[in-house]
Amino acid sequence: MVMADGPAPVENAGHLWMEGKTLVHLRADQERPTHMPRGPAKRTGPGFLNPAMAPARTRSVLLLADALEHDWLVKPGHDLRALDALCATGVRVRRWRNEIPTEHQQRLRITANDLDEVALEWLKKTHERYPPEAQVDHAMEDDRYDRLPSGGMHNGLFIMQNDARISLMEAAYQWVDLDPFGSPVNFLDAAIQGLSRVAFLEVTATDTAALTGSSASSQQRRYGAKGIVDSYAHDDAVRVLLGLIATTAARHDRYIEPVLSLFDGHHVRVSVKVRRSRDGASEVLASMGWRVRQDDGTYRFVQHPEPEHLARSSGPLWVGPLWDAEIAGRMTETKALETCFPSEKALAAHRTMGLEWSEADSEYAQRELRRSVRYIAEAADLMSREHTLYHMDDLPNMAGTGQAPKMEALFEALQAEGHAAARVPDIDPFFVTDAPHDQVMSIMQTMLQPSTE
Ligand SMILES: C[S@@+](CC[C@H](N)C(=O)[O-])C[C@H]1O[C@@H](n2cnc3c(N)ncnc32)[C@H](O)[C@@H]1O
Repeated sequence: MVMADGPAPVENAGHLWMEGKTLVHLRADQERPTHMPRGPAKRTGPGFLNPAMAPARTRSVLLLADALEHDWLVKPGHDLRALDALCATGVRVRRWRNEIPTEHQQRLRITANDLDEVALEWLKKTHERYPPEAQVDHAMEDDRYDRLPSGGMHNGLFIMQNDARISLMEAAYQWVDLDPFGSPVNFLDAAIQGLSRVAFLEVTATDTAALTGSSASSQQRRYGAKGIVDSYAHDDAVRVLLGLIATTAARHDRYIEPVLSLFDGHHVRVSVKVRRSRDGASEVLASMGWRVRQDDGTYRFVQHPEPEHLARSSGPLWVGPLWDAEIAGRMTETKALETCFPSEKALAAHRTMGLEWSEADSEYAQRELRRSVRYIAEAADLMSREHTLYHMDDLPNMAGTGQAPKMEALFEALQAEGHAAARVPDIDPFFVTDAPHDQVMSIMQTMLQPSTE
């Protein structure tokens, strides 16, 4: 990959890459990402971009754009203050600034914070060199701070270098992103306390061994929970993290409403509305409980398992809805491409800046954008209400059929009987349905009956 002409953003700067429609300068010793990378980055350190997190950043752009377009967080015309408290080289904040439609940009105040000076230097220089299309400049809102934070405006981004816990408490942000290395537990209290009355919190956790319970002691220490590593471990991981956020919020007189909660391969990412309300906070235990495995292979949620069921129970975890049907329902593949893929003109301009980008790259990038939101809109309704989760691989045993039908064929059969069914966005083949278990089983058995002809 050829380096861009002119001075590199920082020493050792390497090649130019595009995530969404945003130009990203990668260090010389970071390989050009393959499209659709999976798993954690092989290397880390200041200046390294973890390409496996690109889909999560894409969804973050889409959610923030949706909040501004549909005014579900702040009143029409009002500003929205967003903070990426652990921004590293700031790819997320730069994507917010570059990719959210221009008509909303002036309302969006973005603050980026990290402790790492090298990462912040990288952010400033990259952002200066590859400026956003929309030129936004906000004056500092001096009245919002008890003491003015040390930092400065750079091309529409307020950039500061603080411990995240301090930055989170400095102004009442309406949108906070927490994307630490590993577990977010150390930052949750400060994040919740610092939020404005009505706010949105996005949390990433890469400590999946602790969340699923495959590392039982870490799960107990960090999340106060007990897990079972079976087909429900991914869903449990999401619910354990939501449970901790909900109970932390309740301690600060707030309650949560999940909007999108995903197990995305090597990390869990949850996005929740957080509102201040003592009454709402007092209700938190109604949404907390345990998952008890049953003899037929399914499960039920209970508030407290009977002592004799403890060995087959995981929890405590969030047993309420996981998504918001309306918001997640708008997260379509078309919307992702429309918002995050550059126009021909923008792509041509990127090429004049030194981006080497072939037709095949465009095709892969579009495929990745679609994959970032695949199955979300279709599953939005069921994920926001009561449903049962199934792993396709468990069905043959459960139904005694020896084999499973194609997922699409099963959905058609369930829908023909008046039930809803949808694939869950997960690396494994999970689906959710509102059909009673015996109906799922009888439909399976009918579908897989040996032909008598
Ligand atoms: C996983 S990275 C963030 C990635 C970034 N959000 C993105 O999408 O590219 C975690 C960052 O947290 C920063 N960090 C760790 N502890 C911190 C703390 N106490 N306060 C501020 N930043 C911290 C690290 O310097 C690192 O850049």
